[in-house]
Amino acid sequence: MRDEECVVSLSSYYFPEFNSNRKLKKIGVLTSGGDSPGMNAAFRAVVRTANEFDYSIVAFMQGYQGLLDNNFKDIKSEDVSGIIQRGGTVLKTARCEEFRKPEGRVKAAEVLKQHNIDALIVIGGDGTFMGASLLGKEHDISVIGIPGTIDNDLAGTDETIGYDTALNTAMDAIDKIRDTADAHERLFLVEVMGRDAGFIALETGIASGAELILLPESLTHLKEVKASLKEVFKEQRRSSLVVVAEGDETGGALKLSEKLREDFGKYEMRVCILGHIQRGGTPTARDRVLATRLGAAAVKAINEGHSQVMVGVVNGSMKLTPLRMAFGTKKDINPELIELTKQVK
Ligand code: F6P
Repeated sequence: MRDEECVVSLSSYYFPEFNSNRKLKKIGVLTSGGDSPGMNAAFRAVVRTANEFDYSIVAFMQGYQGLLDNNFKDIKSEDVSGIIQRGGTVLKTARCEEFRKPEGRVKAAEVLKQHNIDALIVIGGDGTFMGASLLGKEHDISVIGIPGTIDNDLAGTDETIGYDTALNTAMDAIDKIRDTADAHERLFLVEVMGRDAGFIALETGIASGAELILLPESLTHLKEVKASLKEVFKEQRRSSLVVVAEGDETGGALKLSEKLREDFGKYEMRVCILGHIQRGGTPTARDRVLATRLGAAAVKAINEGHSQVMVGVVNGSMKLTPLRMAFGTKKDINPELIELTKQVK
């Protein structure tokens, strides 16, 4: 039975032995979707572990586009020296419309066949896994997903690779904004990434002592926002800072500032959209260790005959989750942290 046909809850996912007599000889690997700090550490661990298990590695450049274009490199252990600390992805990445179509995936399957690749490891986010799941299902190709995205919006892993680094990058930036907000006694609306998830906003908001945090997961009523801010101003605080997730239903920091203008005209208000700095930088130790664990686990999962699963760390332990559950299950935001934002602001 292929792993993805197992219907199990995320937490108790187990694996019937998937006996495969076919000795897998060659593994393909690519990075896809938005890059995230730590992808290189994961790629490095894939290569080094593959060597341990006598697999050869073919890397495809620029994500699925490179796979379709057969833009590949045979990778040796020394090729991944000195990359664990590098942000971005040495394999490059790209969004690929063609791969979204069945005929694109036929082409991809043919390229993998030409290389005699038995299993493909994809490092990326939900979009990456959606494509990989279809490729695996349509062409009986063994696919393993490594969760690499700053958004942390994949079920089956407590954190995704790049999330911790993005949190620290955003927090450092917000600390700097707080300095100037205090100096001028201003109201700052700071927008962070996360696509339609609020994980980055929630934790950076708490870490930077934001007076208000707006998330897509919790409905934002404008009148509540105004009331909260008026409370803060009544307390004569030196500055006020609102962290807004880009996916929040207010439409983000810029739109929110237009909605607040008429009520807070007498306060100086500024908007700062952090943008792509959250995607860069050298990965933190936490991300490097997570990426190394997941890269090694992906190769071991192949070696044990698993397919169509994502490797993840849940409560400190390695877990395998069917790809379709990883991207198809809405990951819950921690209610205790939401509560905390109401008590401590
Ligand atoms: O998925 C990662 C992410 O950084 C999101 O948080 C953000 O909305 C999106 O990618 C930006 O995409 P792009 O890099 O294509 O502008």
